[in-house]
Amino acid sequence: MAVFLNQVAFVTGAGSGIGRATAIAFAKAGAAVVVSDINDAGGRETVNQIEAAGGKAIYTSCNVADPYQIEAAIRKTVDTYGRLDIGVNNAGIGGKFGRLLDQTSQDFNQMMAVNVGGVFYGMQAQIRQMLAQSDESTATGGSIVNVSSIAGIRGMPMGAPYSAAKHAVLGLTKTAALEYVRQNIRVNAICPVYTHSGIVDQLINTAPNMEERMRRVIPMGRFGQPEEIAQAILWLCSTENAFCTGQALQLDGGLTAG
Ligand SMILES: NC(=O)c1ccc[n+]([C@@H]2O[C@H](COP(=O)([O-])OP(=O)(O)OC[C@H]3O[C@@H](n4cnc5c(N)ncnc54)[C@H](O)[C@@H]3O)[C@@H](O)[C@H]2O)c1
Repeated sequence: MAVFLNQVAFVTGAGSGIGRATAIAFAKAGAAVVVSDINDAGGRETVNQIEAAGGKAIYTSCNVADPYQIEAAIRKTVDTYGRLDIGVNNAGIGGKFGRLLDQTSQDFNQMMAVNVGGVFYGMQAQIRQMLAQSDESTATGGSIVNVSSIAGIRGMPMGAPYSAAKHAVLGLTKTAALEYVRQNIRVNAICPVYTHSGIVDQLINTAPNMEERMRRVIPMGRFGQPEEIAQAILWLCSTENAFCTGQALQLDGGLTAG
């Protein structure tokens, strides 16, 4: 198992689902964790769970669609723990379930603001800090994981804005990876299929038998667990994985193998 002793991890959308599981996994592996979200109760609960297990974490409220709030959250991270080693840009919304012509400009703009803006501003603030703290003694400049989706690789009927946003996340990931590769900042993405969380619960409730229909398309016949997604994020960030950057890791129970 990867060890993150003396490292500091910042996770957006860590008040539930994949973000919470990731924050908890980093803390278990020895990192000091900054849990951020717009859901203050959820974020504080994540910190409580980390502290109850003997880990180290703080909560900071942060709307990822606002670059000033992300800058402030990274400043709080550094004020509290002295540095930033890992950024996980996970916060996201599922958006409206509907065909292209049913999606409004507001639906589209909100999706772009949160699911693309959050990754763009998140990486800007994180990379700025990673570069500022880099010196000869720093073994790695840092590691960033952006949470895309299988919908970032394939089309998603009834979710055009979501699919467009998750494709954009991969463009941001690959470009940032190339731009900062010589500064030892690695940037990767993950592309999960349906995973038990708030977003999937919303989707399941859109039609009768929806859960069964969603399950059927996955060769493993089941959804992912947030803890499984978290472990992939830790692996991408681990120093043992130092040659991997600019990649989009598909966590899909075999879906895209066919
Ligand atoms: N669950 C899945 O099946 C699945 C599959 C592929 C990708 N994803 C992606 O995983 C990520 C995490 O989602 P999840 O599945 O854990 O769902 P979730 O709803 O449980 O978690 C999302 C978190 O993001 C937070 N959030 C929403 N808007 C925010 C904003 N503007 N600023 C800060 N935080 C905000 C929410 O409060 C929530 O805590 C998302 O980017 C999602 O698109 C999920």
